Amino acid sequence: MKGQEWYQTDEVAKAYDEKRFSRGGRLIDRREKEAVLSALGPVDGKDVLEIACGTGRFTTMLADHGANIVGLDISGPMLQQGRDRAKQADVTDQLSYMRSDAGRLPFPDDHFDIVFAMRFFHLADTPESYLAEMRRVSNGEIFFDTFNRYSARSLYNWALPMGSRLYSGGRVRELLFEAGLALVGAEHDWIIPYGIYRKIPNRIASASRWLEGSLDHTPLGRYLASVSYWHARIV
Ligand SMILES: C[S@@+](CC[C@H](N)C(=O)[O-])C[C@H]1O[C@@H](n2cnc3c(N)ncnc32)[C@H](O)[C@@H]1O
Repeated sequence: MKGQEWYQTDEVAKAYDEKRFSRGGRLIDRREKEAVLSALGPVDGKDVLEIACGTGRFTTMLADHGANIVGLDISGPMLQQGRDRAKQADVTDQLSYMRSDAGRLPFPDDHFDIVFAMRFFHLADTPESYLAEMRRVSNGEIFFDTFNRYSARSLYNWALPMGSRLYSGGRVRELLFEAGLALVGAEHDWIIPYGIYRKIPNRIASASRWLEGSLDHTPLGRYLASVSYWHARIV
């Protein structure tokens, strides 16, 4: 599993949010949170599992929206950041963190209403086995994102320290079908990939987003998008 070791150090975990979600990266954080909230709908009282929750930016957000949520990750240092975040947000009653491998989820079948994973499938060597585990412990919905093969990300993907798997839309549809999941909705976004946004100042990033917005929902925009958000339901 790519990136399993990469996220294990205190250094990487402490720098994670600042590195990705400051400057133009704030727009990314906002868009990802919006994608999760709009796909999952009201989560009040629902049992939710977040796979590879990292520093808990979604875990805390959904606890704050009333979900009973478990954030699972294989990295102790990333989870420690998440614990600190949950304390600061005062949502520790509705949230628990668990250190575990997403390939062997320590829960019975059909245990959660919603299971989701953000920024995880690009690290997965065997996406079909992780999706099958997510499907097994969910009694309803699945949500995840992918980085796309036919996008500007493919230009620098090879240079990333932990490598990164890119997906075509057809491959994701195949994975869903094999896992017994029906696609409920998909959104395709970010013609300029995340890696570039987070390096540019907020003002320039906002202008680029505005320009990108004119291509949203067009076939060209969908084709060039570097990220897709996939919402599926058990058949
Ligand atoms: C790019 S980070 C994403 C964190 C978070 N989902 C977010 O979007 O901010 C990837 C996370 O996947 C976790 N991870 C990698 N392999 C894993 C595995 N086999 N089981 C559980 N977590 C894993 C890493 O520890 C890391 O926290």
